[in-house]
Amino acid sequence: MIEKPAENQYPIDDLIRKRWSPRAFSAQPVEGAKLLSLLEAARWAASCFNEQPWSFIVATKESADEFERLLGCLVESNALWAQHAPVLMLSIARLNFERNAKPNRHAFHDVGQAATSLALQATALGLVVHQMAGFSVAKAREQYAIPEGYEPVAAIAVGYQGEPEGLPEELRKKEEAPRTRRPLESFVFNGRWGQTSPLVR
Ligand SMILES: Cc1cc2nc3c(=O)[nH]c(=O)nc-3n(C[C@H](O)[C@H](O)[C@H](O)COP(=O)(O)O)c2cc1C
Repeated sequence: MIEKPAENQYPIDDLIRKRWSPRAFSAQPVEGAKLLSLLEAARWAASCFNEQPWSFIVATKESADEFERLLGCLVESNALWAQHAPVLMLSIARLNFERNAKPNRHAFHDVGQAATSLALQATALGLVVHQMAGFSVAKAREQYAIPEGYEPVAAIAVGYQGEPEGLPEELRKKEEAPRTRRPLESFVFNGRWGQTSPLVR
């Protein structure tokens, strides 16, 4: 099993170090209780005005039709590997505040926060998560009758990690490639835009 812990510049919690986005999934189903823990973790994310603008459509392989429905929304390059995950999800953002119907600028931000909580909880439970922008928004909207005012955000594959040998050559190379990040110096600013903060210099 490939492990790709972060090569962190400064100490971080082990959960954050270990989380990564594999494409090789084992066929092992995810226990219902663990799936509930992931969604519970998402539920407790922070959000603007505590509006909790997230929804999740969840499809497991136990319901083959439902799984195929969500899989069918993915672009081919994602469906290629995500078909082997036992659980697929789709996150959806409510775009307007419930409290006053005004646009919520932070809706996507907050759905992303919920997704991060879900992913870290998954890591804590020995599961892996791979988020995807590569899906058809129009198809998802049509398949699930998602109403106006709500926007599909990301597809999410969840499961136990598998062996990379089962992946096509090109994906196996990606699976084995090191994880990279820009250094802190490139995005921590102070004083004015683009000026590296002395904190990290
Ligand atoms: C919103 C979002 C969309 C993504 N879309 C895709 C995708 O369509 N296909 C894919 O293979 N990976 C996708 N990824 C995974 C990223 O490529 C991955 O998170 C990034 O390379 C960092 O790697 P790590 O998660 O292993 O640290 C997506 C991740 C996020 C958060």
